[in-house]
Amino acid sequence: MIEISKLTKRFAQHTVVDDLSFRVERGEVLGFLGPNGAGKSTTMKMLTGFLAPTSGTASVLGFDIQKDRLKAQRQIGYLPEGAPCYGDMTVRSFLDFIAEVRGFKGAEKRQRVAKAVAQVELEHVLEQSIETLSKGFKRRVGLAQAIVHDPRVLILDEPTDGLDPNQKHQVRKLIQSLSYDKIVIISTHILEEVSAVCTRAVVIAHGKLLADGTPLELESRSRYHQAVTLVAEEPLDMVALAALPGVSGVEENEREHSLSVLAKPGEVIFPQVNALIAQRGWRVKELNVERGRLDEVFRSLTRGEMV
Ligand SMILES: Nc1ncnc2c1ncn2[C@@H]1O[C@H](COP(=O)(O)OP(=O)(O)OP(=O)(O)O)[C@@H](O)[C@H]1O
Ligand SMILES: [Mg+2]
Repeated sequence: MIEISKLTKRFAQHTVVDDLSFRVERGEVLGFLGPNGAGKSTTMKMLTGFLAPTSGTASVLGFDIQKDRLKAQRQIGYLPEGAPCYGDMTVRSFLDFIAEVRGFKGAEKRQRVAKAVAQVELEHVLEQSIETLSKGFKRRVGLAQAIVHDPRVLILDEPTDGLDPNQKHQVRKLIQSLSYDKIVIISTHILEEVSAVCTRAVVIAHGKLLADGTPLELESRSRYHQAVTLVAEEPLDMVALAALPGVSGVEENEREHSLSVLAKPGEVIFPQVNALIAQRGWRVKELNVERGRLDEVFRSLTRGEMV
């Protein structure tokens, strides 16, 4: 378990992480969200023992990150933002070096490196120097160094940033496959990633906690939660749709003859909408019930429009 309690970081007069508290349990993949400058990387640096908090504490599997820093760090694999590595080393020599730093020697070292290399599919670039690798492969080297000691906690700062769609997909699959027996915290700006891999999401802005819940819970705060979006072959009667019980409003979409019928909080409006379609005989090509839009929830939260 990871426990963060009243964690605070000030740089000069500037409070960057402000009284942050939350817990993460085994098996959870926590998405750490917030606008640029929110304090995500700073929080991760404190959690991994690279930066001392101004006040507050954090512990990793029972080890305090300040009093028991080395023991805490042994439990953690960390991919820093941008995945810095030693550019002039080859992939193999870099991973050997990291494995040695982690205390492995001889056959076990070789085994550990080989396993990490296989997990992130680095076999074909082992003898290449890191600075000559593409961004995606550099990121994979960063991931390999984070998992070489099979840590119980993974802290990954924007692991898929700048990767192509295939590599994003691969890295997400890797995170999922690693997560069943680990605690994973990933920061990301890609909200679809949160729905795809995270069991929980924490949103911060200006270093303060704004929301903490499952992706579904966050989506259900969206004004589009349970909205019914229609695309028809003819104009639809907005007034009649807006008058249905449980409906809070109707919005026109960019596509021709397309509307989103919004539900009041806690209401399910699909049956009423469907009945009206049947009654009027509208030729509807598409009909969707929305779960909610994370990007809209994120924007309202971080601009302070939502409490
Ligand atoms: N060493 C430092 N000295 C002074 N200010 C710092 C330092 N490190 C970070 N900051 C400031 O702390 C704030 C939070 O930065 P941080 O990197 O944690 O944000 P972030 O949420 O990771 O943002 P991004 O999404 O852009 O990565 C920023 O305003 C940043 O300028
Ligand atoms: Mg950051």
